[in-house]
Amino acid sequence: MMNRVVGIVSLMALIACGGPYESQQERKVKEEKALIHSFAVPAEAKVNHLNLIARVDFENRKLNATAHYDIEAAGDAKKIVFDTRNLSIEKVFVDGAETKDWWIGPEVQFLGQPLEIQITPETKEVRIQYATTDGAEALQWLNPQQTAGKVHPFLFTQSQAILARTWIPCQDSPGVRYTYEATVTVPPGLMAVMSASNPTSVDSSGVYQFVMDQPIPSYLMALAVGDLVFQSVGANTGVYAEPSMIEATAFEFGDMQRMLESAEAIYGKYAWDQYDVLLLPPSFPFGGMENPRLTFVTPTILAGDKSLTALVAHELAHSWSGNLVTNRTWDDFWLNEGFTVYFERRIMEDVYGKEYADMLTLLGRQDLDKELKALEDSPEDTHLKLNLEGRDPDDGMSDIAYEKGYFFLRTVEESVGREKFDQFLNEHFSNNAFQTIITEEFLAHLKEDLLLNDEAAYNELKIDEWVYGPGLPANCIAVSSSLFDQVNTQVEMFLSEGGTAAAIDTAGWTTHQWLHFLRQLPSDLGVEKMKDLDNRFALTQTGNSEIAAEWFLRAIENNYSAADDAIEAFLIRVGRRKFLMPIYTALTEADPSKERAKAIYTQARPNYHSVSTNSLDELLDM
Ligand code: BES
Ligand code: ZN
Repeated sequence: MMNRVVGIVSLMALIACGGPYESQQERKVKEEKALIHSFAVPAEAKVNHLNLIARVDFENRKLNATAHYDIEAAGDAKKIVFDTRNLSIEKVFVDGAETKDWWIGPEVQFLGQPLEIQITPETKEVRIQYATTDGAEALQWLNPQQTAGKVHPFLFTQSQAILARTWIPCQDSPGVRYTYEATVTVPPGLMAVMSASNPTSVDSSGVYQFVMDQPIPSYLMALAVGDLVFQSVGANTGVYAEPSMIEATAFEFGDMQRMLESAEAIYGKYAWDQYDVLLLPPSFPFGGMENPRLTFVTPTILAGDKSLTALVAHELAHSWSGNLVTNRTWDDFWLNEGFTVYFERRIMEDVYGKEYADMLTLLGRQDLDKELKALEDSPEDTHLKLNLEGRDPDDGMSDIAYEKGYFFLRTVEESVGREKFDQFLNEHFSNNAFQTIITEEFLAHLKEDLLLNDEAAYNELKIDEWVYGPGLPANCIAVSSSLFDQVNTQVEMFLSEGGTAAAIDTAGWTTHQWLHFLRQLPSDLGVEKMKDLDNRFALTQTGNSEIAAEWFLRAIENNYSAADDAIEAFLIRVGRRKFLMPIYTALTEADPSKERAKAIYTQARPNYHSVSTNSLDELLDM
């Protein structure tokens, strides 16, 4: 395993010359597995830097662009291969001269098509002139009605896992890193922002320049264009939102600087200078996306009381786990997400206290148990190390990577002690900074540097069972929460004979206690008791999206039709897949003809991003 000094030296070497440090041989072995979701052959020719020149055409809903790539070719290189999907490739240049020696290969499901360009070992630059098409699944073009301001259109991208290739021809594997700069032209009055250095005010020319000096993988390429303003919330933290949302956003994320400082105190210096959050319109398909320097978030975490900002801690934590040390393949996705959930809860514990973090952990454990049950018939999908070859990586990514990954790391932490574990993780981040790793490298590192080659300790921790086995190993740590115990008492009382909503003591309950409460309610609670709860606590009208989504599930299970209109309005406004899937699933279970679910979906679908429609089309056989 690499020691710390070599790690830092190779990090400096990578930053200095962008060149690989390993031998060709080592590189080939690593790459074999790394390229299961990419056509690229980086061992033959690899991109080091991208200069993207793009014009955003809202009228025709497309990008017209040129991607200039600085490349590095092996001594015997004959071609460089890019991933493309539904792109219209117009012209190709090699070292400044137009060439006709390029080919687009056959379409492969999920992966798109390889673009092969003939080069020589001496080639330094290739340039691809292209346009996006209606099939650009990364892009969501919003009309003014779908924004907060209702006046200007909006565009945002979502590249993870393998959608970057639908808006930029690229070597679309998390194992390939490059720096980038960009010039983006947008309609006057609008602002463009990227996963890079960003403007803080509108430029009347409509032309924006971006620089990302740290090498990143393509899944972290991101762009958003809209009527945006910026507000600083700390020394190197800030928020972007539409003007009517900026105040609420700045308030909700007012603790970001504290989170950042807490994160640095745990795992070392923030490597990306500035940390900002962009508040998107509600159709954004995820809760958050860790685009470097500029996390994209859903507005559904604006609860008005900062109670849903663990999500910001999560995306911030990715600045270490994921963006700095990256899973080399999507099979190793848990290295990104499990580490990030662990880090997220450490930040939350530091900023808001242990009792707060314990509630997050218990809700996570409930999510995990539910996911394990849902995956009963495909036990391989409950391994930490996945095998996604031949599948759309999006299909294999589940709560397992997040929560089983979390509980694995937490179990290791409790076994070796927090101090030792923190030191180990600190080294993990500094030794592997701006590099990619696979599960096996991490496990070797863990065995050697944390467990000091103690075979017995390795076996006792059941590490191979955690990583390569199904379900949850018996040594998983147990968690409890006194704040949830209090909720349990109230649930019991309410469910017992004569229990009423008026008698429930909810004094001082946080969002997380409410979520726990709602999750404990049975699916056959009955309309009367649902009504009693709603009359007392106005749950159907709650402005907290997490509480609403949980309440709507109980409402559907219990045929509580007083919530019907609110459910429909929610599904039409919100495009966040994590909420949509369970609610639509509950609707189909309540009505196996799927009639109601389909009727709502037909109305709501135009507001959803492809990430959500791909999943829902399948669920509702549309
Ligand atoms: N990187 C993920 C989002 C993602 C995962 C996009 C896989 C595409 C493929 C992001 O960091 C994330 O995990 N978001 C979560 C929130 C988090 C608090 C669990 C989400 O969107 O719900
Ligand atoms: Zn994440």
